Amino acid sequence: MERIRISAIVGSLRKDSLNLQLALAAKELIGDRAAFSIIDYHDIPLMNQDIEFPAPESVKRVRDEVKSSDGIWFFTPEYNHFFPGVLKNLIDWLSRPVGKTEPRVLAGKPAAISGITPGMSGTGLAQDHLVTLISFLDMKVMNVPRLTIPNALQQLDKDGKLELKASLPFLEKQAEAFLDFIAKQK
Ligand SMILES: Cc1cc2nc3c(=O)[nH]c(=O)nc-3n(C[C@H](O)[C@H](O)[C@H](O)COP(=O)(O)O)c2cc1C
Repeated sequence: MERIRISAIVGSLRKDSLNLQLALAAKELIGDRAAFSIIDYHDIPLMNQDIEFPAPESVKRVRDEVKSSDGIWFFTPEYNHFFPGVLKNLIDWLSRPVGKTEPRVLAGKPAAISGITPGMSGTGLAQDHLVTLISFLDMKVMNVPRLTIPNALQQLDKDGKLELKASLPFLEKQAEAFLDFIAKQK
């Protein structure tokens, strides 16, 4: 059987992003059970239908990456009880048809969602909004388990890097569940 391919989409462009660090921890946990890559989309322009066709190179690159993935794992911050605008912009690009014969790249793709915040919320509200959006786009959302990590500052090491002591077993459970979830859809 071919190796499962998971692409991670992190809803923060910040270099020290907690959510990026969470995605990197997931990559390490997954190990050789799947190919795991983090999609770089910092160069995607703001959606503007004037530049939609032909799609900008950056959009084509990300679309191809999503298309060749067996599952998409979202790691989202929470901004004002929502997921960040950069993530909405990316998903808007990915939601559009590529051509007359090509299917939309997100439709039917398995999706997992995790998120981490320094505050109490743990990104639950942002995740609920994301579920509404990606369900509309016909992604197959793994709702159990989702991972919400509050109080991130309690899980930093002395250099301020995410150490994930308490949350690591929950991330491992989600990783295992997502691998199963993807395998069942294949
Ligand atoms: C515009 C903005 C709005 C925010 N709103 C929330 C919020 O609603 N809930 C929350 O828990 N944290 C909120 N935060 C704090 C973020 O959770 C925090 O900055 C987090 O570290 C961002 O994720 P990142 O580390 O992956 O970049 C907000 C931050 C910004 C910049």
